Amino acid sequence: MAEEVRNRKVVLKRYVTGYPTEDDMEVVDGTIHLAVPAGLAVPAGLTAPAVLVKNLYLSCDAWMRGRMSKRDDVTTVVNDFVLGEASYFLSKVVESTHTDYQAGDLVWGMVGWEEYTVITHPSWLVKIQHTELPLSYYTGVLALEFVISVVSPNDVAGMSGLTAYAGFFDVCKPKPGEAVFVSAASGAVGQLVGQLAKLAGCHVVGSVGSDDKALLLKDKLGFDDTINYKSEPDLGASLRLRFPDGIDVYFDNVGGETLDAALPQMRLRGRVAVCGMVSQYNLDDPGEGVRMRNLPWLVTRRVRMEGFNVADYLADEEYYRRFEEAMAGYLRDGRVTYLEDVVEGLESAPAALVGIFRGRNVGRQLIVVSRE
Ligand SMILES: NC(=O)c1ccc[n+]([C@@H]2O[C@H](COP(=O)([O-])OP(=O)(O)OC[C@H]3O[C@@H](n4cnc5c(N)ncnc54)[C@H](OP(=O)(O)O)[C@@H]3O)[C@@H](O)[C@H]2O)c1
Repeated sequence: MAEEVRNRKVVLKRYVTGYPTEDDMEVVDGTIHLAVPAGLAVPAGLTAPAVLVKNLYLSCDAWMRGRMSKRDDVTTVVNDFVLGEASYFLSKVVESTHTDYQAGDLVWGMVGWEEYTVITHPSWLVKIQHTELPLSYYTGVLALEFVISVVSPNDVAGMSGLTAYAGFFDVCKPKPGEAVFVSAASGAVGQLVGQLAKLAGCHVVGSVGSDDKALLLKDKLGFDDTINYKSEPDLGASLRLRFPDGIDVYFDNVGGETLDAALPQMRLRGRVAVCGMVSQYNLDDPGEGVRMRNLPWLVTRRVRMEGFNVADYLADEEYYRRFEEAMAGYLRDGRVTYLEDVVEGLESAPAALVGIFRGRNVGRQLIVVSRE
């Protein structure tokens, strides 16, 4: 009989309204035998072998808020969590009955927020390629989108790297010398957009919620300037000051007031990439949201505002490989720095997730479940 070990997991206790709290989640105890169970029930159409993994890193993302509410509408791009389930991981194989995987392999895929998982659909796993880079990068900056497409085209994990890369280059179509504004600029996506924009020869300003984050953007990530949106409440005036000749590209991670303030500052034929709206995720009633006053500027300035979803790039494995090689190269040679906000232990996960909506994370939020 295989050894039995503890297997704790974080579960969602109830669907959330408004801001999530730690009490909406709980860590529950369980156990697991360290072996692939015999006679597993396998989902229809999938292969029988299974893989038992030990989870090392879990991702923790703003988009998960959408899954914490029970919704019948289509304003969120992700499916609701089933109560008692959660997220994505980077793991080490403990035992496998699948010929492609062996004990010790490092893999990336999707499970609950738990210590061990039996994967009954190993075709959804991907082996880690760039083991010379920190493994945690595979929960974010180098995460493999196309795996998720197999799971569900609407379920996208914390793939900050591909989101930044595809959103900036494909949607924004930047040219050298252009003026770029990025919101939530110290977050998982924003920090990368800013650095990619610098590599593309642009002038980059990021907005963040604290002076410490602003300093970090300039000192560590090479942003040209910053706005602390909490201490500069007249965002329009702040943007006019930073962009006296206007904004060519706005990469929007927050929506709401920041988006409305940016529109009148857009230059002729500017582009707004709508990546996310974190300032709106905790509103129960969309009617509580900011009234957009400045949409007419889209017409007068011929601005293209385009929402995108990284899931749109899932099917294109060649695109992913191009992105992965480019991004791995930037990270290796130091042209891109990736800030991670790491918390230790599964029990820290609820607070880490809640903290994202209070701006507590500095860089990509992730949870170390185990370091080996
Ligand atoms: N379109 C896609 O395919 C796709 C894929 C991944 C992510 N996204 C979206 O991209 C956005 C950024 O994601 P991320 O993973 O980079 O986020 P993140 O690392 O979790 O960072 C979120 C940051 O947003 C800021 N924030 C929180 N509440 C805010 C508010 N009310 N107003 C303004 N800023 C607020 C906070 O920093 P401050 O200190 O600056 O407030 C927080 O640290 C999110 O909207 C996410 O849903 C979209």
